[in-house]
Amino acid sequence: MAFSTCAAFIAFAVLSVLGGQGMPIRGSHVTTLTMHDGSIGEIARKVKMLSDNGRAQHITERELDYRRTCAGLHQPLERLRVHAVKQRLDPKIHIQLDRQFLERGSGDWFNVSWSGVTDPRYDDWIALVAPSDANLSETAPAKWKFAAGDPKHVITGSGSLRFRLISYRADVAFALMRNGFDTPQEVARSQPIKRSLSSKPCSSAGAVTVRLLNPNEPLQVHLALTGSPSEMRVQWNTREAGSTPQVRWGPKSVKYDDRDGLGFAGGSDGPAYPSTAAADTSRYGIEDLCGGAATSAGWVDAGHHHVALLTGLRPATRYYYRVGDPDGDGGWSPEFSFLSSPEISPDETVHILAVADMGQAEVDGSLEGSEMIPSLNTTRRMIEEAAASPYSLLLHIGDISYARGYSTQWDNFMHQIEPLAARMPYMVAPGNHERDWPGSGDFFGVEDSGGECGVAYERRFPMPYPGKDKQWYAFAYGPIFFILYSTEHPVGPGSEQYEFIVQALRGVDRRRTPWLVVAGHRPIYVASTNANWPDGDQPVSELLRDALEDLFLEHAVDMTLQGHHHSYQRTCPLYRGVCQPSNDDGTAAAPVHVVLGHAGAGLSLNIVDPLPAWLENLGLWWGYVRMKVSRSQLLVEVVGDDDGHFMDSFELRKPANWGKKYMEVHTRSL
Ligand SMILES: *[C@@H]1O[C@H](CO)[C@@H](O)[C@H](O)[C@H]1NC(C)=O
Ligand SMILES: *[C@@H]1O[C@H](CO)[C@@H](O)[C@H](O)[C@H]1NC(C)=O
Ligand SMILES: *[C@@H]1O[C@H](CO)[C@@H](O)[C@H](O)[C@H]1NC(C)=O
Ligand SMILES: [Fe+2]
Repeated sequence: MAFSTCAAFIAFAVLSVLGGQGMPIRGSHVTTLTMHDGSIGEIARKVKMLSDNGRAQHITERELDYRRTCAGLHQPLERLRVHAVKQRLDPKIHIQLDRQFLERGSGDWFNVSWSGVTDPRYDDWIALVAPSDANLSETAPAKWKFAAGDPKHVITGSGSLRFRLISYRADVAFALMRNGFDTPQEVARSQPIKRSLSSKPCSSAGAVTVRLLNPNEPLQVHLALTGSPSEMRVQWNTREAGSTPQVRWGPKSVKYDDRDGLGFAGGSDGPAYPSTAAADTSRYGIEDLCGGAATSAGWVDAGHHHVALLTGLRPATRYYYRVGDPDGDGGWSPEFSFLSSPEISPDETVHILAVADMGQAEVDGSLEGSEMIPSLNTTRRMIEEAAASPYSLLLHIGDISYARGYSTQWDNFMHQIEPLAARMPYMVAPGNHERDWPGSGDFFGVEDSGGECGVAYERRFPMPYPGKDKQWYAFAYGPIFFILYSTEHPVGPGSEQYEFIVQALRGVDRRRTPWLVVAGHRPIYVASTNANWPDGDQPVSELLRDALEDLFLEHAVDMTLQGHHHSYQRTCPLYRGVCQPSNDDGTAAAPVHVVLGHAGAGLSLNIVDPLPAWLENLGLWWGYVRMKVSRSQLLVEVVGDDDGHFMDSFELRKPANWGKKYMEVHTRSL
C-alpha cells in the first residue's frame, strides 16, 4: 500500500472544525475572534481550499490524498522510505529536458518530459536528484511531484511538468520513480541532451544532466545584528570555500555588470565600493550533526558559509553591498541594501516584522513543501512591506525552515527569505524543529529536529550568542530592548540561560529603551488542548511560567512573542492567569503574551473550549506581525497573508517620562 495513512493534519483540521459547531467564540474577554470573516465554516472552507488548491493545476485526487494524509509530517520527504528505493533502470523510458544549463541558481524553470512508461499509475513520481549522481537509496531527492500531475500520464505513459530549480551547488538530474513511497523504484534518470554544446563527453548513466554553470554563485545572503548598533553581519553560502570571500559595501549604490554571458563574473576586479569586509568561512558536515535524516537520507553537502562583519556604520543609514570573491570563479551577488540600526534612544521610531513557524514551500508546486504553502504569501507580503516602508528588522521566533534534517530544504528556505533577509537583519530564536534531538543537550530530548540538533540552525544564523549551543541573546534596538531566549534549552532557576535572562533584565536602562520585549519559541500562555507530557503546550507553558513569569513581572516586561502553536493568540496584560487592571499612569501592569505561530505551517485548531478569560484575540489564519515602536507607543498589527486584512491590531502606551520614573524607583534595587 503506497499511501498508508499517516498523521492526517489537514483532514483532521477540516473535520474538527466542521464537527466543531459548538466551538466557543464566547469567553468574556474575547474582543475579537479573527477568522477573516468571523465564521468557523469559513475557516473550514479555506483550510479545505488550501489543501485542494492544486485542482487548478490539475493535481490529481491521489496527490490531494497525499497532501491530506501527510501534511502533518511537516516534512513530506519523511514519507519516502529512502533505503527501500531500488534502481531498475528501464531503457524504454526516456526523460528529456528543454534545457541543459542552470544559469542562475535562483530560479530557472525547466520543462521535464518523459515517455515510454508502460502500465502508468497514479503513484509514479518525478524526483529531482541532487547532486545528479546521488544514489536514491541513500539520499532523498530534493524535490518531487506526481507524474500524474500531468493527467496525460496515466493514459499514455508520457507527460511533462515544469520545475523551478534553485542551486544546490551541484549538477542535478531528474528521475522517474514508480511504486509510490513505500517500495519505490527508480526506472529512469535524465541523460545529457544529445545536441549538447558541452565540450564534456556525455558519460555513463547517472551522469550530469542539468549542469549548474556557476556552482560558486553566492547564495542565501542574509544579515544579522551583533548587539552593537554600529555593526552588521553578512552571511552567504557557496560551494567551495574560495580564497578571499568578502563583502564590498558603502553608502551609495554602485553599478557593476557581473555578467559575462554565462552568469558569472569575469575580467574585472569586482564592484568598486569604498569598503571591504573579509569573511570567515566555515562548513558543517554530517559529522557535526546528531542522527536521523540529518546524517543519512537528508544529508546533501551544504557548502561553505561565509560571515563578514561590517563595522563603523552610522545609525539609521542605508548601506549598499554585494558579496563575492575577487579571486574566485563565483562572481558577485546582486546589490542589496539595508538600513543600519537606529541609535539606542527613546526618541527613535522603529518598524519591525515578526513571524514564527513559517517554513518554506515551492512556487512550482513541488510537494515536499506542501504543508507550508501559506509561507509563500507571508514571505511575499513581507517583501512588499519591506520595499515600501522603513522596516529594518525581522524576528523569526523558532521553527524556521522545518528542514528536519533534509539539508536541501534549508537551501529552499534560505532562498525564499533572501529578498527579506538580505535587506534587514533576520534575528532568530531556536524552535523544537531546529534544536531537539535525544541526548544532544536540549531540554526535551524529542526528535523534532530530524537529527540536526541545532547545528544547521546555528551555523546558518550567526546570532550574538554567548557561546556554542547557548542560543540566547539580548540587544537594544532604538527605543526597545529585546531578549530572545531558547525554550529548547534549560531555562529554569539554576540554569545558565536563566542567569543570562536575569542579568539581561537587570541591565536594561528603561530611560534609553522604555520598551522591553522577550521572545521564545514555546508559549508561556496558550489556549491549546495539547496537554501531552513532557512537551505538550500546557505542561511546557506551566514550566515556563514557573521559571519566568515573576521575573517578567518584576522587570516590567511589556510583551512576549512566541510561536509553536500555529495560531495567532493575544492575552490581556496577564499575571498568574488573571488579567491585571492598568496602572494609574495608564500603562499595562503585566506583560501581554502574543503567540504568532501562524506564518506558514498548518494551522493548529486544537483550541480549548471554553476559551480562557485572558484570551483577547484568537486568529486562525496565516499571516505575520508588524510593529511600530516609539517612545510612547508600541503598535502591533497582525496582517493576514492572503489579502492583507488585519487579524488584530493593538497598542501599548507609556507616558513620555515613564522610563525616567521607572529607573528612579527601581535603580535602588539594582
Ligand atoms: C546504492 O546504494 C545501495 C545501498 O547503499 C547499494 O546497495 C547500491 O548498490 C547502490 N547503487 C549504486 C548504483 O551504486
Ligand atoms: C514541455 O515540452 C513539451 C515538448 O516540447 C511540450 O509538448 C509541453 O507542452 C511542455 N510542457 C509544459 C508543461 O510546458
Ligand atoms: C495568496 O494571496 C493571494 C492574493 O494575494 C490569494 O488569492 C491566495 O488565495 C493566497 N494563497 C493562500 C494559500 O492563502
Ligand atoms: Fe514548534
